[in-house]
Amino acid sequence: MLFRLLAAMCCSCLCCSANFTPTWESLDARCNPSWFDEGKVGIFVHWGLYSVPALGSEWFWKCLKAGSEGVRDFMEKNFKPGFSYGDFAPHFTAELFDPVEWAELFAEAGAKYVVLTAKHHDGFTLWPSALAFQWNAKALGPHRDLVGEFFAAARNRTALRLGIYYSLMEWFHPLYQIDKVSNFSTSIFVKMKTMPELRELVEVYTPDVIWADGEWEAPGEYWDSLNFLAWLFNESPVAKSVLVNDRWGKESICRHGSYLTCKDRYNPKTLQCRKWENAMTLDRNSWGFRRNANLDDYLTTKELIQTLIETVAYGGNILINVGPTHDGRILPIFQERLRDLGRWLSVNGDAIYCTTPWKHSQNDSLTPNVWYTSRGDALYALALDWPLDGRLTLGSILKPKTVTVLGHGKQLLFRKGYANDLIIELPSFHLLPAAAAHAFVLRLTFEDPRPPCPHNATCRYFYYPKVHRQPKKPE
Ligand SMILES: *[C@@H]1O[C@H](CO)[C@@H](O)[C@H](O)[C@H]1NC(C)=O
Ligand SMILES: *[C@@H]1O[C@H](CO)[C@@H](O)[C@H](O)[C@H]1NC(C)=O
Ligand SMILES: *[C@@H]1O[C@H](CO)[C@@H](O)[C@H](O)[C@H]1NC(C)=O
Ligand SMILES: *[C@@H]1O[C@H](CO)[C@@H](O)[C@H](O)[C@H]1NC(C)=O
Repeated sequence: MLFRLLAAMCCSCLCCSANFTPTWESLDARCNPSWFDEGKVGIFVHWGLYSVPALGSEWFWKCLKAGSEGVRDFMEKNFKPGFSYGDFAPHFTAELFDPVEWAELFAEAGAKYVVLTAKHHDGFTLWPSALAFQWNAKALGPHRDLVGEFFAAARNRTALRLGIYYSLMEWFHPLYQIDKVSNFSTSIFVKMKTMPELRELVEVYTPDVIWADGEWEAPGEYWDSLNFLAWLFNESPVAKSVLVNDRWGKESICRHGSYLTCKDRYNPKTLQCRKWENAMTLDRNSWGFRRNANLDDYLTTKELIQTLIETVAYGGNILINVGPTHDGRILPIFQERLRDLGRWLSVNGDAIYCTTPWKHSQNDSLTPNVWYTSRGDALYALALDWPLDGRLTLGSILKPKTVTVLGHGKQLLFRKGYANDLIIELPSFHLLPAAAAHAFVLRLTFEDPRPPCPHNATCRYFYYPKVHRQPKKPE
């Protein structure tokens, strides 16, 4: 009931091919390209000059200028007086950056899209922007077009969709400072920098996501966001496939855009009218790589899978952040987490990709840590804890027709308990794939076929990681 009410209240999609006008009313009525909701899992990559000092977080330069103690002491102890943030540029070398390896790792993690920081708040661009004169990765550091190389490799070798993270503001850009002093009554920076760069990124790299950030000091009117988005959705080369997040002006976050990100590590913990995304980090405390992270600072595989399950049960996508090093490596701790996730999804992906939230409940009413998703005529119960007695008791379900565990396949015995609950006899734990140790998934079907899911998306993705590999030579 609640679900139906919600659907009636908000999810009206007026318009898939209309001519959008530069108003939120018009832009918000656009239907999202279905690949995004179907795909569920994305990888976020924070990579830039801050990966060189790799200390604290990607806000290193801001902290240095603000005289924050840790960063100031680090500079005083380790660098000559006068060594500036810009002096890190030659050390941003990327000599071990292998874009094919990155793309294959992300695809094998089961991700369907990747969002790369083309420019963070320091303004340093990973592509040869003509407007970031001598402040980009082609002119300095690696002398390479890192965005172009990654996009080309990923498109050549995987089915990943590719997105751009772009910070609208730049902490210390002189033109931005002028606009700021005028209380954003002038918009020299937007005309000279932001808009030409955004258009160049769209036209040259044809991204399927634009993940804006750094919007918070000024209104969307200053950023000229509505005109840009109307162009993006009407005329740009990605008009049919692109989605944008919600950070287009200080009033738009958590209100407008193709999907809502609201805040870092967002999880609303209830069903939402709007599509949303949980942008989170494997290092609990930083988006950029930091050398001063300990093992405990990284999410365990189980925590990662738990976050994924809960996010998807509430209708969200997850965007999992990794921070590569200055020389272009993705450290084994990130690789292990991502490959563990890929192994888990290769068994349990049916309960994640192309699913919709269950209309009755998102978690079980009786047993903690059991979450629900639905797809076609199947209902999935995703359980994080293996019951010691080998029996799983569910409070939210009556009379299934069949119950199986993904990765096992044989039908399980079940019976009604005294409290109108359902008691399911699980197979012996050692008969399940190793990935079940993180979470195992029951697939339930019913006599009455489930009503069709509200989106009823025809799914274009296989659930297993899709990587186009060269066939191996026989040994
Ligand atoms: C695409 O990959 C193939 C090998 O799989 C390689 O020979 C070719 O050069 C690649 N093309 C581009 C544009 O990267
Ligand atoms: C800045 O502009 C906003 C409206 O854009 C206004 O509400 C505010 O009072 C202005 N502040 C100053 C210091 O002029
Ligand atoms: C289901 O989830 C809600 C929200 O997170 C929580 O309050 C409730 O305790 C959970 N139910 C069980 C049985 O764990
Ligand atoms: C949902 O999709 C199925 C085929 O996948 C189709 O038979 C059915 O009519 C669709 N339902 C709605 C409501 O569009």
